[in-house]
Amino acid sequence: MHFFRYRDGKLHCEDVDLARVADEFGTPLYVYSAGTILDHYTRLDAALAPLDHLICYAVKANSNRAILKLLGDAGAGFDIVSGGELYRVIAAGGDVGKCTFAGVGKSREEMEFALERGVYSFNVESEAELEYIDRIASTKNLRAPIALRANPDVDPHTHAYVSTGSRENKFGIALGELPSVYERAAKMRNIEIVGVQMHIGSQITEAGPFASAISKVTPLVRELKSKYGIMFFSIGGGMGIVYRRALESGSGKWWHNHGPACAGSAFSVRDYADAIVPPLRELGIRVLVEPGRFLVGNAGVLLTRVRYIKQTAEKKFAIVDAGMNDLIRPALYQSYHEIVPVKEPWPVAETDSFPSSKSRSMNKNMNKTEKIDIVGPVCESGDFFVLDREMPKLHEGDLLAIMSAGAYGFMMASNYNSRPLAAEALVRGDKFSLIRKRQTWEDLVRGEVEAEW
Ligand code: LLP
Repeated sequence: MHFFRYRDGKLHCEDVDLARVADEFGTPLYVYSAGTILDHYTRLDAALAPLDHLICYAVKANSNRAILKLLGDAGAGFDIVSGGELYRVIAAGGDVGKCTFAGVGKSREEMEFALERGVYSFNVESEAELEYIDRIASTKNLRAPIALRANPDVDPHTHAYVSTGSRENKFGIALGELPSVYERAAKMRNIEIVGVQMHIGSQITEAGPFASAISKVTPLVRELKSKYGIMFFSIGGGMGIVYRRALESGSGKWWHNHGPACAGSAFSVRDYADAIVPPLRELGIRVLVEPGRFLVGNAGVLLTRVRYIKQTAEKKFAIVDAGMNDLIRPALYQSYHEIVPVKEPWPVAETDSFPSSKSRSMNKNMNKTEKIDIVGPVCESGDFFVLDREMPKLHEGDLLAIMSAGAYGFMMASNYNSRPLAAEALVRGDKFSLIRKRQTWEDLVRGEVEAEW
């Protein structure tokens, strides 16, 4: 469940009118709901209660320090993939002893930093990496705690770019090869075997793939437990969220079915727990999960303002002030994001889920929709958020909320077209606060130096 709702015709995040936040900090602006993040964390934590478990938040989904602090304070560990992410966790006061360090290409500096700080585990993705960690740990006279990443070869039924647990992917080590790699690891002086890990992909919207990956890896977990006394089995992240609602255009009902209050999680925490808890419980081992999107995805919106309306012979465009550099998901993954006006186009009483005939006739002339492309200012045709989307009539100056942008939104932003990075704000109850300043033009050239010849 998330806390974005229309109240008195204005889109609120928790108890804060989003238009106020945009007025104060400008647009494009990412706004996150602390209450939503904590609600998701608490519900997942409760569902996993029958297991000895640790939720390691996948920092890559949203690494703003304020978000890390929120989750760290709630008890989360962290799944990190770079020295930079570890640096952030430390800066946010997170517990390094609850960090797992994943990624196929860790550098020497990153390994040294993580070893010195004492991460819980290195999730190792190849034999070459294992040898390298052993060497680095020996120069420091330390033992590196490791888990090998298993590639269970299952199809998670998700976008090809975010599918990671099948044979063709660069991730992990094939199940058949793992026992011999563990044997090698056991002989390495500066390696300590502590666990086994997997992650089959992201935005997975059914429980089946998780269950089948677990059942494939279970025999190995038992073997590793008895042979090496491993302490944990990390089943990775990947729980999907709802980005999309079916469109019912042409009636007052459209808005109710289409509005932001509908977004939730793709399959419930309960479905997820029902599928994974029983087989994991039998293993009698600590279970780690690495959710990113599930915790923060529906907890964030990108606010953007319509700059111009452009009508061509073929199409109508709303040109907004956010671009693909701010949110690249539609361009990169053809992903769907709900977009709604912050000022409700045809407000209906909150309790009126099926508008009465009276309110329907009152709204008859107001609730017309039209097809429009919502595009950014970047010089690429791929710079769009939606194409031919049925929307309430938009005007210049309208403030829009691009929903479900809390995960992999700001994180994947760039300075393309020399556009300063957007600001970020956090809402909690009736308070809101800036958690990242908008970049300035000066920021864009900071760090660039004249060639010396
Ligand atoms: N653990 C590992 C090892 C991962 O590689 C990932 C995500 C996660 C956990 C967290 O997955 P989540 O729970 O968030 O699905 N940029 C893409 C998503 C890339 C995911 C990469 N790995 C997007 O915008 O959809």
